[in-house]
Amino acid sequence: MRVVIQDNYEKMCKWAADYIADKINGHKEDRPFILGLPTGSSPIGVYKELIRKNKAGEVSFKNVVTFNMDEYLGLPKDHDQSYWYFMHEYLFDHLVDMKAENINILDGMTEDPEEECRKYEEKIASYGGIDLFMGGIGVDGHLAFNEPFTSLTSRTGVRDLTTDTRIVNSRFFDNDPEKVPAQALSVGIGTVTDSKEVLVLISGHNKARALAATVEGSVSQKWTCSALQMHNGAIIACDEDACGELTVDTYKYFLDIEKKERL
Ligand code: GLP
Repeated sequence: MRVVIQDNYEKMCKWAADYIADKINGHKEDRPFILGLPTGSSPIGVYKELIRKNKAGEVSFKNVVTFNMDEYLGLPKDHDQSYWYFMHEYLFDHLVDMKAENINILDGMTEDPEEECRKYEEKIASYGGIDLFMGGIGVDGHLAFNEPFTSLTSRTGVRDLTTDTRIVNSRFFDNDPEKVPAQALSVGIGTVTDSKEVLVLISGHNKARALAATVEGSVSQKWTCSALQMHNGAIIACDEDACGELTVDTYKYFLDIEKKERL
């Protein structure tokens, strides 16, 4: 696992956007580049920078197919808290050459959630898998909506949200946890770790425990993010604020080995 520590959130986002753009630009195969994407506050700065690069002609999304991580069950696309809405507001609507037919987001209003999830896995497989999955994590270490104790080999499916997650996400729902949908559709931990590369953004003091669990903890279904330790191409991009619970030797190790990557 690589851990790239940047001074602050802005630099972390710049590093991640540069990394993604380089991967897209370096993709010379005939088939499209398959990119997994998250929602949340963490990726917003990355999306801003990708939009800037796209408008400046530094990266094209013409040959990119995206798969989003998750979607609330029961929210229509035009609900301002649906992840469909979020992705269009913060990324897709601003890219000059993203094709609508290349955007894949689980349908939160589906009448058959199991079938929707099965088809999603099938579609990912039809492209030969995901090249790079970018993610964020919750304060409890959930990756996509894979809450603590979700199997580390799980596939796309329906997830019950924990009370903790509903409380954290209630900031977008009038601070009322009851208004946060109780269930979501989400790619599984296995879906994410099947990707060739996984890039997870972890920033801020409130993610310090989760970062330590991801990097230094045991691989455990309690911290589903810890499954990344078993992945051969996992990168954590983080900021200084998130490093508060790392041991000093771990922190120094990654600063030393990644010093060329420090912006
Ligand atoms: C939600 C999403 C996750 C995301 C998490 C963290 O629960 N389902 O995919 O990683 O929020 O969000 P933030 O980046 O806002 O802390």
